[in-house]
Amino acid sequence: MIDSFGRKIDYLRLSVTDRCDLRCRYCMPEGGIDFSRRDELLSFEEISTLSKIFSELGIVRVRLTGGEPFIRKDIMQLIRSIRSYYQSFNITTNATKLHLHLEELKELEIHGLNISIDSLDADKFKQITRRDAFDKVISNIYLAIESGFKVKLNVVVLRGINDNEILDFVDLTRSLPVTVRFIEAMPFNGSDGNKDQFIPFTEILAMVEEKYLLKNIDDRAPSSSVEYNIDDHLGKIAVIPAYSRSLCGSCNRLRLTAKGEILNCLYSNSSLSLKNMLRSGMGASSIKQSILDHIMLKRKSGFDEENQRSNKDFFEPMTTIGG
Ligand code: 5AD
Ligand code: SF4
Repeated sequence: MIDSFGRKIDYLRLSVTDRCDLRCRYCMPEGGIDFSRRDELLSFEEISTLSKIFSELGIVRVRLTGGEPFIRKDIMQLIRSIRSYYQSFNITTNATKLHLHLEELKELEIHGLNISIDSLDADKFKQITRRDAFDKVISNIYLAIESGFKVKLNVVVLRGINDNEILDFVDLTRSLPVTVRFIEAMPFNGSDGNKDQFIPFTEILAMVEEKYLLKNIDDRAPSSSVEYNIDDHLGKIAVIPAYSRSLCGSCNRLRLTAKGEILNCLYSNSSLSLKNMLRSGMGASSIKQSILDHIMLKRKSGFDEENQRSNKDFFEPMTTIGG
């Protein structure tokens, strides 16, 4: 699939649930959200049908997201059923339940696990996630590394909250074969939009460069991040300009929300309900054509998408949009 700006769309971010066992402050309000009823979410069969369609349309890479994917009860059965449709299969998780599934994930040849961890301090972790899961998450990160998974750590950087830990996170890469990815806070928290806490990636990089010499790795496939090596470090670091949106020109992604809507961009407010199409009995070839048509509406950048939004002051929770 090629969009109207010549970008090849071959990567799907597939959200399997909007529920989560944490309440990260940058992702949803304290009281949670009105989570979807089960029948509002795509069923196991519907996700399988759509995966076949996506793979026939040229999607070769998938990433499961949520909410938290492992909260979904039939998640392992689901992964088993759709695994073969995609060449590359990765999962983003908060890792609270990862120990229960590592063995099976290995067997299913899931290679990449992106794990969210925003603080290396248990109290701070609790302040950000509003839950007490630090010990479990840390031990599951080590388990995942020891089990041979390619692990990336996602750190959403929040001014005045965890920005004093940036260098501690970089230090982890000395001896651990992980990529630590610093993510700009996006406005999607279901309330004030994280505006006061936003730190641009340029400032994050400057903080790291005060102590380390970063070597840009530029021979990579399209990606939402910019990666760097540091001499003598086993791991890498990366920044994700999620709000600065400087990498839109090579965007290769499409999103499917847990409720079955495809979205061209996180900042877009026009979606297309594939769930409604499936439930009204539409056939695969018509659904494929609708997906192709929708992709042609993908705008040049996240700024262009945002400008089309009618309400620029309300920011949906990330757990609803799909991370
Ligand atoms: N801004 C930036 N990143 C976010 N994530 C969730 N909400 C936000 C936000 N408002 C991150 C999570 C997870 C990834 C899928 O998205 O930390 O690592
Ligand atoms: Fe859950 Fe992820 Fe949202 Fe945190 S960011 S509340 S772990 S879905």
